[in-house]
Amino acid sequence: MKIITIIGARPQFIKAAPFSEVFRKKNEEILVHTGQHYDANMSDIFFEELGIPKPDYHLGVGSGGHGMQTGRMLEKIEEIIVKENPDGLLVYGDTNSTLAGALAASKLHIPVFHVEAGLRSYNKRMPEEQNRVLTDHLSDLLLCPTDTAVHNLEKEGVTAGVIQTGDIMYDVVVRNIEISKSRYANGAWLEELRKENSNFPALKEKDFYLATIHRAENTDDPNKLRSIFAAFEKMDKPVLLPLHPRTRRLIEDYDIEINNTIIINPVGYLLMLYLIAHAYMVVTDSGGLQKEAYFLKTPCTTLRDQTEWVETLENGWNVLSPIEVDRILKLVTRELTCLLHPQPTLFGDGHAAEKINQAILDFNK
Ligand code: UD1
Ligand code: UDP
Repeated sequence: MKIITIIGARPQFIKAAPFSEVFRKKNEEILVHTGQHYDANMSDIFFEELGIPKPDYHLGVGSGGHGMQTGRMLEKIEEIIVKENPDGLLVYGDTNSTLAGALAASKLHIPVFHVEAGLRSYNKRMPEEQNRVLTDHLSDLLLCPTDTAVHNLEKEGVTAGVIQTGDIMYDVVVRNIEISKSRYANGAWLEELRKENSNFPALKEKDFYLATIHRAENTDDPNKLRSIFAAFEKMDKPVLLPLHPRTRRLIEDYDIEINNTIIINPVGYLLMLYLIAHAYMVVTDSGGLQKEAYFLKTPCTTLRDQTEWVETLENGWNVLSPIEVDRILKLVTRELTCLLHPQPTLFGDGHAAEKINQAILDFNK
């Protein structure tokens, strides 16, 4: 079987790693990198660390408005589909690269396989929600990470081609957590961080907040972004913030004052896993990070009004906070009763890649 896989943004490189490995044992995968993310620490580092194959095509689309970015991808992906004539096209998640891939394939009557199908925040203002709803409704195979995702699709009348496979991001955590620990234990994580900043402070494990902020709903509103940093300033422990380039640019544009916050460049996946596992708490608006915090048993506060990963809210492992300084401060200092509760295994058994592979091969029979 021959498929085209579209990737382009940081979380998609990570999700692609285990599936590519399994599928390529007996089948042909043409990997297309749209170029949505292009800085070395937003792209190349993941290919190197996770052994992701070199893309067959790099579209070099880069940054821009939604229409420009998605439109350029659409045009170029269409050309590749016509040339390669695949049996199907695989997309991950909910970025502009996802939608462009699904739309290009669907118009050419090439089956679309969507990994991470069925997630919903029910907030249509989010670009991610627009991308995932449209992609799901164009897809022939809807590969769902959780039962909730299957039910969400059912509510929209989508039942054909829906398969619960478990969460592929859990596969990646299971495969890499021991590698991460052996690389960064015994203070090696601090040494790594000092390579970039020789004055990096002597943080202690479980005594810092690990934060990431990049979602448009927070960054594009100067008042919200200001409130987030005002909350960080007042937190009872230092905040370590590997900063997405989008947010770095906007902090400068809005001239936001930063205190009690150590800003570093985005880090590789293996260091990120170590930081998540050894933070006191994760504070984020990322989709992926909420789950990784849950997998690694680190409490999380999510700076959003909704989450697609509702399972993480059970027993208070993750809580949602509106962007108000006092509410954020109250939630990050909450009593961590979640640590007393075992976590149900709601995200699969770490073999989602094999199940996705089987579903795709069965579809093609
Ligand atoms: C995209 C996804 C979002 C996902 C995130 C993962 C969409 C609509 N959004 O958001 O769902 O959570 O990726 O990280 O697809 N930039 C750089 N260098 C890079 C990449 C981006 O400087 O390598 C800067 C540019 O200023 C760019 C901005 O970041 O304009 C935003 O990048 P873009 O890919 O448009 O969206 P993300 O915010 O990364
Ligand atoms: N991540 C990383 N380095 C960083 C920030 C994030 O490796 O500096 C990883 C993170 O562990 C997770 C993925 O990137 O696996 C999440 O991507 P992001 O938050 O950009 O996107 P989202 O999940 O919100 O779509």
